[in-house]
Amino acid sequence: MGKEKKIIIAIDGPAGAGKSTVADKVAKKLGYSHLDTGSMYRGATFFLIKNKVPMEKEEDVLTELRKMKMEMRENKIFINGENFTPFLRTEEVEKHVSWVSSLFGVRKILVQKQKDIAREGGFVLDGRDIGTQVCPNAELKIFLSASPEIRVKRRFFQLKEEVDLDFIRKDLKRRDEYDKNRKAGPLKPADDAIFLDSSHLTQKEVVEKIVRKAREVIGDY
Ligand code: DC
Repeated sequence: MGKEKKIIIAIDGPAGAGKSTVADKVAKKLGYSHLDTGSMYRGATFFLIKNKVPMEKEEDVLTELRKMKMEMRENKIFINGENFTPFLRTEEVEKHVSWVSSLFGVRKILVQKQKDIAREGGFVLDGRDIGTQVCPNAELKIFLSASPEIRVKRRFFQLKEEVDLDFIRKDLKRRDEYDKNRKAGPLKPADDAIFLDSSHLTQKEVVEKIVRKAREVIGDY
């Protein structure tokens, strides 16, 4: 029997659809690696905050990011040798990451990095533009979504009592609009993506559906 082909699986979708956890579990089941591309935008944003770079000017942001050496090791993110993983979800990062990730220059740097990492195959990548820009030739593309209200509730239970439901609702709406309408790498399903609505599915069911689909695709090689 020949060696099994290692494919690329792209999982895109809006914030709160559960992409990252699902991508991680799918990767483990297939013996693949997982690349959470959102964490790369978050890492770059924290790097700018830490170095006190004014966010308003794209040129200042890009000049600083050119000094950044980003490495992904076992789902942890290191910038210039320092582990940034614990700081990816801080309030300050949440506040600035939509803007930072909307800049063409920033996306150019990170998209190239993502392409380089996934070059060999055997990767599950999750993000907003994986099927359209990062890996347009991915053998399996999933657009994972859920109704806005379900995404709000999931986020609420994840954060427990720290924020109120109304705040989460407004924040999610803001992020959806921003991600969909920005000019650089907008959130958009690829023409050949499979739509998966997880509103009424458990996480386990979503993972099983994607793994089954992946095995079908792998079986075709
Ligand atoms: O998925 P997330 O919430 O961790 O993403 C953080 C931010 O990065 C969010 O504003 C969307 C952006 N992002 C992006 O623009 N492109 C990607 N491939 C992944 C995330």
